[in-house]
Amino acid sequence: MQIEALRGVGAEVTAIDLRRMTDAEEAQLKQSFSDHGVLFFRDQSLKPEDHIAFARRFGPININRFFKATETHPEIAEVRKEKDQTTNIGGAWHTDHSYDQEPALGSVLVARDLPQTGGDTLFASMYAAYDGLSDGLKDTLSRLRAVHSSRHVFGAQGAYRNEKGERIGNAQAATQDAIHPVVITHPLSGRKALYVNPAFTLHFEGWTQEESWPLLSYLYNHATNEAFTTRFVWQPGSVAFWDNRATWHYALNDYHGDFRLMHRITIEGCPLV
Ligand code: SIN
Repeated sequence: MQIEALRGVGAEVTAIDLRRMTDAEEAQLKQSFSDHGVLFFRDQSLKPEDHIAFARRFGPININRFFKATETHPEIAEVRKEKDQTTNIGGAWHTDHSYDQEPALGSVLVARDLPQTGGDTLFASMYAAYDGLSDGLKDTLSRLRAVHSSRHVFGAQGAYRNEKGERIGNAQAATQDAIHPVVITHPLSGRKALYVNPAFTLHFEGWTQEESWPLLSYLYNHATNEAFTTRFVWQPGSVAFWDNRATWHYALNDYHGDFRLMHRITIEGCPLV
């Protein structure tokens, strides 16, 4: 197995077959995941069962309550955009499941059907974003917590309210809010990471949305600095495995009229401190 760090965030792992990893390879992959936040693989041939088995090496599977699952495997969520749909899923900077009390550890995304061109995914490092802040702002943020929610995205009045078809559902389950520290100590690496995101963070705890917005928008702008990001160009057989506590991602929506289908498995996480 070879691991090459990428500029911005993440690493590309080659000379590995994710269907048959040795214990030594698994240990090396876990270390790299902790070091880099997102791992990219090419030329894999993962059947749904292989996808599930790979994800389970890292923890129990969290069945996403809003995404339609595949017909055959409830553990696998579809990230789908039909030819006649204009919105995609994940088309803004976010980290999966920050609206949960115990946000997901990570997600394993497998390319199933790609558009002719476009449909790349951007990733950003929340370690680098945190490290790039001044000591003064780090100190201020260390005392703040933020409120996250799924209601404005997946709820009955949320961003997908006019959605036709079945790819997003279960709006009645989008009721809960979760409060997390703005700076977390990452459960695997022990490093500090910025833990707010544009899609699901509503405001700082005890602050109004209006009061929160100037500082949140500063942080969002800062965190998407090119120096902290990378762009992954999908090919048939590509797989990305990202850590939701250390990275953000953004599915580009630049392939209107074409079809894109990805399979995603989300892995259970833990409370963040
Ligand atoms: C997601 O946001 O989980 C999906 C990312 C993608 O489709 O590239």
